[in-house]
Amino acid sequence: MASKPLCSAFLQVACLLCLLQAAWCKEDVAACDEESILQLITQKNDLKAQSPMSTNNNTATAMVQTDAHLKYLTSEGAAFVAWKDAERQWLSKQKSKASNNNKQHQQQRQQQQQDVQPPQSSCDYPPDVTVLWYPPEKSVPWWPTSLLSQFQTAVITDCEVKCIKPASSEHCQNRADGVVYHLPNQRLHNFQLPHKQFNIGISMESTANYPFQEPSALRAAGYDVVATTRPDSDVPVAYFTASAFTQLQLNSFPGWDDRMPAAAFVATNCGWSNFAAHRITLVSQLSKLGVPVDSLGSCAPPGTRALHNSTYRRGNKVEFLKAYRVYLAFENSAEPGYVSEKVMDGYASGAVAVYWGAPDIYNYVPPASLIRLPDNTDDKDALQVVARQIMAVISNKSQWDQMMQCRSQNASSWKTEGGMDLLKLWDSPKLKGSISCRMCRLAYNHKKQANMSLSISAVAKPNEPSSSYKIER
Ligand SMILES: *[C@@H]1O[C@H](CO)[C@@H](O)[C@H](O)[C@H]1NC(C)=O
Ligand SMILES: *[C@@H]1O[C@H](CO)[C@@H](O)[C@H](O)[C@H]1NC(C)=O
Ligand SMILES: *[C@@H]1O[C@H](CO)[C@@H](O)[C@H](O)[C@H]1NC(C)=O
Ligand SMILES: *[C@@H]1O[C@H](CO)[C@@H](O)[C@H](O)[C@H]1NC(C)=O
Ligand SMILES: *[C@@H]1O[C@H](CO)[C@@H](O)[C@H](O)[C@H]1NC(C)=O
Repeated sequence: MASKPLCSAFLQVACLLCLLQAAWCKEDVAACDEESILQLITQKNDLKAQSPMSTNNNTATAMVQTDAHLKYLTSEGAAFVAWKDAERQWLSKQKSKASNNNKQHQQQRQQQQQDVQPPQSSCDYPPDVTVLWYPPEKSVPWWPTSLLSQFQTAVITDCEVKCIKPASSEHCQNRADGVVYHLPNQRLHNFQLPHKQFNIGISMESTANYPFQEPSALRAAGYDVVATTRPDSDVPVAYFTASAFTQLQLNSFPGWDDRMPAAAFVATNCGWSNFAAHRITLVSQLSKLGVPVDSLGSCAPPGTRALHNSTYRRGNKVEFLKAYRVYLAFENSAEPGYVSEKVMDGYASGAVAVYWGAPDIYNYVPPASLIRLPDNTDDKDALQVVARQIMAVISNKSQWDQMMQCRSQNASSWKTEGGMDLLKLWDSPKLKGSISCRMCRLAYNHKKQANMSLSISAVAKPNEPSSSYKIER
């Protein structure tokens, strides 16, 4: 399946596109999905199998070359340790699959739990600091625990609220102003906290794949703040922001003449999960309709040209895409707000992106800058129209140039389909600032309110100590 790392390192490291994104990614190392991690492990194992020379070398070094995501993790330090753990866990999983032995599985889980570092500090921050605490990750069989659960204290910068994300080793269950649950692998009911907390549920996965993340369901389950890709969440989280495109305008790209007359498709694994199946079918359908497709990843759907080799395995995706006129960017599900970093790889390489996914994509990208597949891909006629459109861009320079107009436009003129200014939309209070800062704001407001009701009750009942700082709801 195509890579969908939450901290989109392709943008951050390879393209240096989104400064904002880089900022929140730093804070959200915890937010990395299992699919991309397992995929990296698979790639690495491929690598080991194919080049015996490298087995004695530091395998982490080799992997770092294959994916910018790991580059990023390495730069964060402790990545190697995390990597080892991820690998061990993956191997355990394979083993337990093979033997299907429950007892062994239990032992592994106990081992994993023992591996989690004991907390070391007491979360002693001044009262005017808002503390966003991520409780320790619960061990989930398919999740490389330590990669997600060991991080250093992070000060949330560029935020009007004084805010901190304590290190994973800190005991913050009492002090936390906001408790942040990384939803794909962690839930509110996993924890017995000493008193009612201000609960924040965060995830960058789609609701289609994780139905429990429906914002109303999360609120009903006790989350005060929902932070998902859904536009109707309290803190909508995005893989990139519109300002990324203004950065992009500073770059220069190869023109139509210097690109291959074909569409590039990049996916690592055709059969990783059901999520992938729809994409694979779509690619084959387009190919049947006459679109020449080169598969650069190890997954080459029927009808496409399989080009995967060690160059593509080790190199940088965006650089490869610069050799193509068109790039097929399909999400794993089509729902509002679920716009992964995938489509940005197209913009970052200057290839025209053919997109299937979020119906509100034009709240995220400049107008008329991509080719959209019909929402209903069973509509053969509509698909045929799009195939012709793709062919026109591949074979006609002026059609391709038209799709590139946003590069020279004044970004202030960009409108959403609803007629709003795109940049203003991203400057609105709900979307402005890093994800952590927006969570901090809400936690701070809640804390202030709670403190106010505390001091009121302190006046009413002078016997109660007003200095002890507790949040009650
Ligand atoms: C290990 O890999 C690095 C990077 O590819 C290389 O510079 C180094 O020479 C290799 N070391 C050995 C012992 O092969
Ligand atoms: C809480 O209220 C007290 C008294 O009203 C005040 O001194 C203190 O600064 C407040 N703390 C915060 C974090 O707002
Ligand atoms: C991989 O394929 C590309 C495109 O066909 C080619 O340019 C490159 O040299 C190949 N790399 C290897 C190691 O064969
Ligand atoms: C290429 O597209 C332009 C419109 O952008 C059109 O005027 C022209 O006729 C097309 N050329 C060919 C060869 O189809
Ligand atoms: C872009 O448009 C805005 C508003 O219309 C204007 O203020 C700004 O000066 C323009 N920028 C450039 C570089 O032309």
